[in-house]
Amino acid sequence: MSKRKRILSGIQPSGTIHIGNYFGAIENWVRLMKEYDCFFTIVDLHAITVSYEPSLMQQRIFEAALDNMAAGLDPARCTIFVQSHVPEHTELCWLLNCVTPMGELGRMTQFKEKSERERENVTAGLLNYPILQAADILVYKADAVPVGEDQAQHLEFTREVARRFNGRFGDYFPEPATLIGRGARVMGIDGAAKMSKSLGNHIGVAEDPDAIWEKLRPAKTDEARKRRTDPGDPERCNIFSYHRLVTPEGALQEIVNGCTGATIGCIDCKKVFFNHLRRVLDPIRERRLELERTPELVWSSLREGARKARAIARETLDGTKKLMGLL
Ligand code: TRP
Ligand code: SF4
Repeated sequence: MSKRKRILSGIQPSGTIHIGNYFGAIENWVRLMKEYDCFFTIVDLHAITVSYEPSLMQQRIFEAALDNMAAGLDPARCTIFVQSHVPEHTELCWLLNCVTPMGELGRMTQFKEKSERERENVTAGLLNYPILQAADILVYKADAVPVGEDQAQHLEFTREVARRFNGRFGDYFPEPATLIGRGARVMGIDGAAKMSKSLGNHIGVAEDPDAIWEKLRPAKTDEARKRRTDPGDPERCNIFSYHRLVTPEGALQEIVNGCTGATIGCIDCKKVFFNHLRRVLDPIRERRLELERTPELVWSSLREGARKARAIARETLDGTKKLMGLL
C-alpha cells in the first residue's frame, strides 16, 4: 500500500479543453502526480444538475478523458475514472445529505449563479451539488484537493461536512486541504475576459497549429504600440502574458528588451511564442490522435480506474455506515 498523501479533483465533461485549463490546472496536476496518490474523476453526475442533452453526454465524457489523458493524466500513474461508474459517490452523498442542514446550500455562490441562469429548471440536484462534491472527496479520505479559486467555497463546505460528521459520529473523515494551483489565470485571445470555450476566445490544447496561428496573428498586443518603430510595454500586452506560460527565462528577457527597445515586431514576437507553445502542444495533440484511434482502450482505462477507486470507496462507505448505525 502506498503511504503517499492522496489528492482528488473533479473534471467537468464540458468538451475539449483549452490552454487556460491546461496551464491553470492540468499542468499542476501532472506535477502533483509525482508526489501524491492522485484520483481524477470526470463528474458526469454533476454535469446533469443543469440542462443538458443526453445523446451528447457519452461523447462529452469521452472527449474529457481524451483531452486530459493526452495532456498528461496518464492512467498508469493516476486513477482516472467516471464519477457515475463508482456508485459509492452517490451512496455517500445520501448519507451526507442527512447530516447537512439545508440552509447552507442555498447560500453557495455557484448555486446562486447557476440557478439564476437556469431559472426554469432549478433542481434538487443543483442544490445538493456541493454535497455530492464533498462525497467525491471524502469517499477517498483525500488529504488535499487541487482546484481553482472558484471552488474554494465548495472546499470550505466539504471541510464543514467532515467536521459535522466527525462531531456527531466520531472522528472519521480528514478535513481536506485546498491546493490552489499556481493560479495561472489565462486570458482569452481577445484580451478582454478569462479564456473560456463558451466565449470563443480560446486556444484548444489539441487545435490544429495553423488554426492557432490564425487566431494569434491578428490578436491584440500593447494597444499603445501602433507602429513597429514604437516601443511597447510587455506588461500591457496579452501576448506577453502568454509568453510567461511557455517561454524560458532567457528568451523572455530578450522579448522584454526587444519590445521596449522596438527591435522586435509583434508578429515576430508572436512567432516566438507560437514556437514555444508548440513544444508543449504538439505532443499533446499527437497523444490525443493516438488515443482517439483506440477508443476502447480509453474506456477500458476508465473502467479500470473505477475498479481501483471503488475498492477504496467501498471501504470508506462501510465504515461510514457502521458509524451511522446502518451496518
Ligand atoms: N465543482 C467542480 C467544478 O465545477 C468540479 C468537481 C466536482 C470537483 N467534484 C469535485 C472538484 C471534487 C474537486 C473535487 O470545477
Ligand atoms: Fe506584445 Fe511582443 Fe508586441 Fe511587445 S513585441 S507588444 S510583448 S506582442
